[in-house]
Amino acid sequence: MQERLKELQTEALEKISQATDLKELNDIRVSYLGKKGPITEVLKGMGKLSAEERPMMGALANEVRDAIASGIEEKQTKLEEAAVQAKLATEKIDVTLPGRPVRTGNHHPLTRIVEEIEDLFIGMGYTVAEGPEVEKDYYNFEALNLPKDHPARDMQDSFYITEEMLLRTQTSPVQARTMEKHNGKGPVKIICPGKVFRRDNDDATHSHQFMQIEGLVVDENIRMSDLKGTLEVFAKKLFGEDREIRLRPSFFPFTEPSVEVDVSCFKCGGKGCNICKKTGWIEILGAGMVHPNVLEMSGFDSKKYTGFAFGMGVERIAMLKYGIDDIRHFYTNDVRFLKQFSIQE
Ligand code: FA5
Ligand code: MG
Repeated sequence: MQERLKELQTEALEKISQATDLKELNDIRVSYLGKKGPITEVLKGMGKLSAEERPMMGALANEVRDAIASGIEEKQTKLEEAAVQAKLATEKIDVTLPGRPVRTGNHHPLTRIVEEIEDLFIGMGYTVAEGPEVEKDYYNFEALNLPKDHPARDMQDSFYITEEMLLRTQTSPVQARTMEKHNGKGPVKIICPGKVFRRDNDDATHSHQFMQIEGLVVDENIRMSDLKGTLEVFAKKLFGEDREIRLRPSFFPFTEPSVEVDVSCFKCGGKGCNICKKTGWIEILGAGMVHPNVLEMSGFDSKKYTGFAFGMGVERIAMLKYGIDDIRHFYTNDVRFLKQFSIQE
C-alpha cells in the first residue's frame, strides 16, 4: 500500500510537470485528488491494516495528497504567468504607428464669413452690437423714417406676429436701438450681424431667412466719401484687389443719398449668366448717409451730427467669395457641402 501511494505520487508529479495548459492541469487535479481518485481507492483498504500501521498510512496518504496539491499549485502559477507573457508578446503596441485622426466639426460657412467681416471691422475701430430677431414695428420701420402707411414698406414683405411685432426684415433696427442708448452723444461706430426674415420667394439668390450685417457710424463731419472709402476697403479686403465693385444710386427711406453696391459675378465674371440674372453683377449691400429724420428720432442733433450706414447680405457675400451657386445650400445642411468649409485646411 505504501508503495502504491509512492507510485501514485511519482506518476502524478510526472503528469503535472508535462501539463501544458490550465485545463490539462485541472483534469489531473480531478483525477488524482477527487473522491473517485486512486488515493481514495487505496485508503479504502486501510481496514485490513493493523492498528499500528493505520495512522502511519493515513499520514503518508496526506503527505502524498499535499505533495500533489502543491505540485499542481506551483504549475498553475507558472502556466498563468506564461499565458500573460504570451499575451504581452502578441499584443505588443507599436508606438510608431500613425494615430487615427480625431474628427472634429467645423464652423458653418456663414459663421466663418460673419467672423471674418467682424474681424475686419473691429480692426477699423468698430464694436459689435446685437438686437432682437422678434422686433417692434417701431424700430424695424417707424424709427427708420417709415411711418405706418409709407409705400416703401412694400420693399420688404414682412412676417407680422401682432400689429406691433414682427420678425425683423433687416438689421437696421439695431441702428435706432444703438443711437437711443447713446443719448444724442457721438461717436457711434458699430456693426451688427444677425438673422432677418422676409416673405421673398426662394430662388438661387433669395431666401426667406437670411443674414445681414449692419454698420453704423455717427459723428461730427462724417461724409459720403468716408462711406465710399470704408466700403471699398471692405470689398477689396474680402474679395481681392482684382474683383470689381460698383456703387449704384438707390433709395432707402432711412438714408439720403442712398446707394447699392454690386460685385462682379463670380461665375461669368460680368458677361451675364443665370446667377446674376444676366446683369454681370450681384448686389451685396445697401448703404447711404443716415437721414436727418432718423438721427432726430433717435435723439441726435442732425445739425451737429452726420453719419453713414450700410446693410450687407451675408449669404450673397459668401456665395461670391466661395463661388457657391445657390443660396439654398446654406440651409439644406448637406454634409458634403459643409465639409468643404472645414477649418483643418
Ligand atoms: C436693406 O435691407 C437695408 N436695410 C440696407 C441698408 C442698411 C441700407 C443701412 C441703407 C443703410 P436690402 O433690402 O437691399 O436693404 O437688403 C440688403 C442686402 O441683403 C441685399 O443687398 C442683399 O445682399 C441681401 N438680401 C436682400 N434680400 C435677400 C434675400 N431674400 N435673400 C438673401 N439675401 C438678401
Ligand atoms: Mg436691395
